[in-house]
Amino acid sequence: LNNGLALTPPMGWLAWERFRCNVDCKNDPHNCIGEVLFLEMAEKMASGGFRDAGYEYIILDDCWMNMTRDSNGFLIADPERFPSGIPFLSDYIHSVGLKFGIYEDIGTKTCGGYPGIEGYEKQDMQTFADWGVDYVKLDGCYKDPNTFPQSYPQVGAYMNQTGRPMVYSCSWPAYISGGNNTVPWQDIADSCNLWRNYDDIQDSYASLTEIVAWFAQEQDLLIPVAGPGNWNDPDMLLVGDFGLSYDQQKTQMAIWSILAAPLIMSTDLRTLEPQYRRILLNRNVIAVNQDKLGIQGRQIITSKDKGVEVWTRPITPTAKSGNTIVYSYAVAIWNKRDDGTPYPFSNPISQYGLTSKSGYFLRDLYTNQDYGFFLPTDLLTVKVNPSGVIFFKATPVIADR
Ligand code: GLA
Repeated sequence: LNNGLALTPPMGWLAWERFRCNVDCKNDPHNCIGEVLFLEMAEKMASGGFRDAGYEYIILDDCWMNMTRDSNGFLIADPERFPSGIPFLSDYIHSVGLKFGIYEDIGTKTCGGYPGIEGYEKQDMQTFADWGVDYVKLDGCYKDPNTFPQSYPQVGAYMNQTGRPMVYSCSWPAYISGGNNTVPWQDIADSCNLWRNYDDIQDSYASLTEIVAWFAQEQDLLIPVAGPGNWNDPDMLLVGDFGLSYDQQKTQMAIWSILAAPLIMSTDLRTLEPQYRRILLNRNVIAVNQDKLGIQGRQIITSKDKGVEVWTRPITPTAKSGNTIVYSYAVAIWNKRDDGTPYPFSNPISQYGLTSKSGYFLRDLYTNQDYGFFLPTDLLTVKVNPSGVIFFKATPVIADR
């Protein structure tokens, strides 16, 4: 969506994956969907270095609402869980230098059964603007997906009419992308800043690999519609949660960076272990994700042959050679084998699309280790931990660095 927003993939924190629809604030006051959770998370985003690394949005997900609207049809937050009200929360988030995101659903109800916006589209977008909302995640439950080509753009028009800049995150394709349906990717990209392409991520390596496999399968359709203002969204980061090993968390962060995916955390920033925090705050990896060219990367070697998958993304700095652009690349080598020992994977770097005749400097993005200078025909051998990645950047010698 060409509204001047999300020129790089949005970065932030969203409650859903980690905190779900826990509404038991009596027994679990610090982890339930209530203002305490969001105030504490905003404070940690700001004081814990996340804001300074680029994480910007604190986003409510489902279950923040009262079960009914007020007598004038206005949405209200659950008064017991959000006793100070949404404008207070929004003000606090802005006061610590962050932006505020909210969740709603285009249908009659949210997926969790709370009031949806159907019939109140215009009024609700005005309410969000009045509340200082900067980002709207609009889910697709309880609505016929056949209406999406009209209904999602219509809500976007109402958002636009408020005059308040709001990032528009649509779940439109997630409700149609399974099976053999054709998905109108260009229409979605014209209407939304980001869109949930596929199934919800769950806290497991199986869920992660399934989503990535789908992105690989569909990549020729997805890559052309990505770019500044438009992002495919494979869903939240699991980094810091329970289901992924340390290596698997680095894998997700690397692949999400290659995919130019939104970096939306969903972990408890209050108790995050330092080694996971370092993954989330890795400046080199974030720089790949946020690269200003906004080109989504691709899988270039499948795991069929050796059980190792390779993903690359063109990034800056670039150089010109005649009429062609010579890109730098981020390269992720992902060991999907299960034979339990770091696997030595060896290829001339030309196999990774690194074909500039003058060669490249290679540097590891996680360890900062320099691999040195490579010509396209030079062999690079890396040892990749099971379910982990080696993630490096190749910068052409002729690029302006
Ligand atoms: C859907 C969405 C999730 C989350 C839940 C909330 O499943 O895809 O991201 O918002 O609804 O109920």
